Amino acid sequence: GDVFTYDPGFTSTASCESTITFIDGDKGELLHRGYPIDQLAEKSHFLEVCYLLLYGELPTAAQLEDFESRVTNHTMIHEQMHNFFRGFRRDAHPMATMVGVVGAMSAFYHDSTDIADPWQREVASIRLIAKMPTIAAMAYKYSIGQPFVYPRNDLDYASNFLRMCFSVPAEEYHVDPVLSRAMDRIFTLHADHEQNASTSTVRLASSSGANPFACIAAGIACLWGPAHGGANQACLEMLREIGTVDRIPEYIARAKDKDDPFRLMGFGHRVYKNFDPRAKVMKKSADEVLDLLGIENNPTLQVAKELEKVATEDEYFIEKKLYPNVDFYSGIILDAMGFPTSMFTPIFALSRTVGWISQWKEMLTDPTQRIGRPRQLYTGAPYRDYVEVEDR
Ligand code: CMC
Repeated sequence: GDVFTYDPGFTSTASCESTITFIDGDKGELLHRGYPIDQLAEKSHFLEVCYLLLYGELPTAAQLEDFESRVTNHTMIHEQMHNFFRGFRRDAHPMATMVGVVGAMSAFYHDSTDIADPWQREVASIRLIAKMPTIAAMAYKYSIGQPFVYPRNDLDYASNFLRMCFSVPAEEYHVDPVLSRAMDRIFTLHADHEQNASTSTVRLASSSGANPFACIAAGIACLWGPAHGGANQACLEMLREIGTVDRIPEYIARAKDKDDPFRLMGFGHRVYKNFDPRAKVMKKSADEVLDLLGIENNPTLQVAKELEKVATEDEYFIEKKLYPNVDFYSGIILDAMGFPTSMFTPIFALSRTVGWISQWKEMLTDPTQRIGRPRQLYTGAPYRDYVEVEDR
């Protein structure tokens, strides 16, 4: 029969060619369209990075203005979609709500589902980038029993999101520019990461020609898991559980114990074997945000820093090349901003949407791409004849 390469987890199989993102795992380098992530996080902002990922070049001032206004004009969701939220239990995880609501978009926006039409692809892209913060914020508001807050188009992307999450009709709400900058940086650091599990899921789903909104819902489902986007929630919960620096050795010992399934959340990466450049920026940002909010001696940050120090000096972690990843410090910032841990992964999802969309667009215009159809090595029973139930 046919002979296949056995590559579980796709550690050595390239599924596509791409011009979007480059990662050098040994050097700890991440480039979007050639630009390093630390420069983008420092000097650019999320919507500009969205433009770069989607269209390949940094925008001129006029192009950026046009792009931002197009995104801004699509921030509201169809009013009928509010009923979707209301169908969920209040205690549903916001990621569960998002998988459902984003999937439901496929039933609402019929003018942006013809994937053969470049204009419809464009409209679907803009809609998803524009509406994801609204959907994530509504999932949050629903979970805490507060009224939905409509988007405000005079605010920038990050400020609008913060306002939709934290304002209530009873009071004026002013977005702190420091927080909105930090929020924007978190979005930027998560924007794309080449063929990770959720992006590969979006590509595989769309390889059959499926509805774009349904494909993004598939990406959200994949991202939710604790080995992927769910690690930010799991990491902060772990840091809180450790609680004080004196308990770190106990957790390090557990992480090293072969018979204990416990892993240090926010540690390790399939591709980065030196350090995750996003974690570096995130660590600096955590310091800045806590400083600016006047939060001194944050116990979680203290545990995180000490844990990083102890782990990165430990034989086991050195040998296995395990370093803090993007999720290690992000939760500390989000927690300081007032987000519950259940909102960490939805924030990752809204940030990664542009990456999913950019890869989806690239795939649809790549003539070498075909329906994704992995093969297998069959290890089951050989041919045998059916046995009647009374003879078993
Ligand atoms: N703590 C303790 N040991 C670990 C850890 C960890 N966090 N990560 C990997 N190892 C060990 C693992 O036990 C294995 O040991 P051995 O070779 O003796 O069996 C070795 O290191 C290699 O691990 P692996 O699971 O084969 O590596 P992978 O490339 O399949 O998995 C990973 C990568 C990110 C899923 C994994 O490192 C992990 O589970 N980390 C914790 C979860 C996490 O932080 N995920 C976020 C990743 S970055 C953002 C994102 O993708 O969303």
